[in-house]
Amino acid sequence: MDVLKIRGGKPLQGQIRASGAKNAMTKLLVASLLSDKKCTFYNVPNIGDVEITVNLCKEIGSEVKWDKKNKILEISTRELKTSYVPQRYSGSNRIPILMIGALLGRTDEDIIVPTIGGDLIGSRPVDLHIHALQKLGARIEYREMKKEGAYFAQAHQGLKGAVISLSYPSVGATENTILAAVRAKGTTLIKNAAIEPEIIDLILFLQKLGANIMVDADRTIYIQEAVQFHDVEHTVLADRNEVASYGMAAISTKGSVFVEGAEHLNMIAFLNKLREVGGGFQVRSNGIEFFYEGPLRGGLHIETDVHPGFMTDWQQPFVVLLTQATGTSVIHETVYENRFGYTHMLKEMGADIALFTQCLGGKACRFASNNHHHSLIVQGPTPLKAKEISIPDLRAGFAYVMAALLSTEESYISNIDFLDRGYEDHVGKLTSLGADITRYTLTKKQFQEKGKQTLQSLLSTMPVDTP
Ligand code: UD1
Repeated sequence: MDVLKIRGGKPLQGQIRASGAKNAMTKLLVASLLSDKKCTFYNVPNIGDVEITVNLCKEIGSEVKWDKKNKILEISTRELKTSYVPQRYSGSNRIPILMIGALLGRTDEDIIVPTIGGDLIGSRPVDLHIHALQKLGARIEYREMKKEGAYFAQAHQGLKGAVISLSYPSVGATENTILAAVRAKGTTLIKNAAIEPEIIDLILFLQKLGANIMVDADRTIYIQEAVQFHDVEHTVLADRNEVASYGMAAISTKGSVFVEGAEHLNMIAFLNKLREVGGGFQVRSNGIEFFYEGPLRGGLHIETDVHPGFMTDWQQPFVVLLTQATGTSVIHETVYENRFGYTHMLKEMGADIALFTQCLGGKACRFASNNHHHSLIVQGPTPLKAKEISIPDLRAGFAYVMAALLSTEESYISNIDFLDRGYEDHVGKLTSLGADITRYTLTKKQFQEKGKQTLQSLLSTMPVDTP
């Protein structure tokens, strides 16, 4: 139950190294369960979601050696101890559902996965996962258990390659289908598949493991059953969300940050919008430098989309950036129907943001006829005031950190477990860039006390947490 105190008003200056991608590393761990081979990963981020996934793999039977200092992780799963994902993992993140795809071809036991969790940013159904796996021959049922429901999956008759057309290029559904297809007889085609860089990273890993996989320009992925598995060494790609987050924090605070290891190829849509708003960047041979080049210009229209479009996870910090730009900008969120909840707090801090249920500024999306606030108009520039903030989800969390860095007073941020899940050493990195940020650890009792007084008065009596 840690909290952050941030006093903003200082430009971020300096250099950090990009961490390995959360959205790749967690899936790579699950993919390692496909065989009994040893997989060695490099550039492994030390974040909450990787820790949770490692623990989950250990429950299933994996042996894991994780050298956190050198960011190297070895995993091998010679035998499965169980194919039951304990209920305590169900609210943790979106990973347990992928266990079905990874384990279907490896065990005759039922794979039991309690209902999934993740950030509260929409209904996040798994219908596309289930239909695709059923098409490959899996039997999957949803049953009520003591506290909540669970999926029971098995493929006693074996898995068989099939043609699967996704009605939407879901990242998770594409990954789950690829994982199952690696052990399905023959060839599987996934049409309208997601082709996010983290999925390509998964494909590179699976090719080394023994699968033959091809990605076509028209979003079709072909997977051929792996006949033999091999030990794998794999370096995890850089986290494009982290890179973009620090880039936006640098520019909005009128600073300059070089992110070593940032990969240009995966940032194209983001850099186009950054240039449109007047944010400076220079792609160097070993990373990307982000810097303030003068007043930021609004007037942007951004539509979040699947890759290669503008990623939905960049949206929240970009809105904070746009509060500092002169003029009006429009954001149309087409990936999640409910990803603007965090704007209430930005408005309390002084942002001028209005939400709309219509699809603003572009073509109608899947949410056109629903009553969800999925478009917004942001008008800038507006100064932002310090606040006591509770983080509702991971990316909103970084947006709030950015907002706090822009205010000259002290902000107090709780629920930072969300940040820990996805941003490696965020306090260390921000401190090295000159931010005035302090982390405090609260006991359960102190946290309960929080209801009776402000975080500011509570923290004024406490020692700083030194990790
Ligand atoms: C992943 C990323 C997340 C990112 C998202 C979109 C991880 C751990 N998370 O999430 O950071 O924001 O991709 O790039 O990698 N959908 C359905 N039915 C399904 C599955 C999805 O309707 O069976 C819908 C969802 O409700 C959502 C949309 O598809 O509206 C996108 O979801 P999806 O691409 O599956 O995202 P995740 O894999 O959960």
